[in-house]
Amino acid sequence: MTTTPPNSLTHDQIRNFSPSPNCLDGKTILVTGAGDGIGQEVAMTYVKYGATVLLLGRTTSKLETVSDDITQAGGQPPAVITMDLETASQAEMQDLASRIEQDYGKIDGLLHNAGILGDITPLAEYDLSTFERVMRINFTSNFMLTQALLPLLKRSDNGSVIFTTSSVGSKPRALWGAYALSKQGVEGMSEIFTQETAKTTENKDTNLRFNCINPGGTRTDMRAKAYPDENPSRLKTPADIMAGYVCLMSDASIDVRGQVVDLQPK
Ligand SMILES: NC(=O)c1ccc[n+]([C@@H]2O[C@H](COP(=O)([O-])OP(=O)(O)OC[C@H]3O[C@@H](n4cnc5c(N)ncnc54)[C@H](OP(=O)(O)O)[C@@H]3O)[C@@H](O)[C@H]2O)c1
Repeated sequence: MTTTPPNSLTHDQIRNFSPSPNCLDGKTILVTGAGDGIGQEVAMTYVKYGATVLLLGRTTSKLETVSDDITQAGGQPPAVITMDLETASQAEMQDLASRIEQDYGKIDGLLHNAGILGDITPLAEYDLSTFERVMRINFTSNFMLTQALLPLLKRSDNGSVIFTTSSVGSKPRALWGAYALSKQGVEGMSEIFTQETAKTTENKDTNLRFNCINPGGTRTDMRAKAYPDENPSRLKTPADIMAGYVCLMSDASIDVRGQVVDLQPK
């Protein structure tokens, strides 16, 4: 991964970021998987710090509940985008980009958060259709959505794309199969986009940056599915890990590029 530039933030500074109250003012940010778990908390937190959010997920009722909560708390009313990332086509993503362009003109942030666990089983026995579902939702859709939104992200003064990885993305582990491979792929994708958008004498047109967050073990449905015998009260809640998510979307992190930030290092 790209090394931290000398004037940039350390990972400790990102994890322990103290956001100023309006640090996301004026930013339009799309969050995938915004109806539940970490994504729901991130969406509400981004609004709290001044952003307008676009809530993308596959279950409209969950997204509408988050939208109502945001509006009732006095935040900018969010857009609700029902999209199943397993089946959405490139044409549907292009159509989404056109609608965002019409309504907002640009986009300042994109958090790829939606994901599924798949099976915890040896690769030798891994079911192909589950493997393909996991790869499509956790990995391929990140590529498709980023590609579709790239022109709008480049219009932002300081655009930020965050991918979501996991400990098994940086270090694959037996039995974690497609999930681990999808997260490895996501880390590679972030690095490639980072290199391809680097400011050089030939390419001066964007400040867009790409980074990965590994939230670490967090109290959500996915974690409970992965570790059914664990006592969830020992885990951090999504609310406990928001500082890193805010930091990497705010202009405090404009020099942070190509990093994989572990929010709960051991
Ligand atoms: N929790 C942890 O301990 C942990 C640790 C490391 C990494 N992560 C990563 O953090 C991210 C969030 O995880 P989480 O724990 O918050 O999981 P979660 O509670 O299961 O939430 C996942 C979200 O993704 C959405 N989603 C799933 N499939 C989708 C699809 N086909 N199209 C659109 N949206 C879809 C879900 O929508 P529905 O609710 O409608 O199904 C849900 O909103 C994931 O990328 C995960 O891999 C989590």
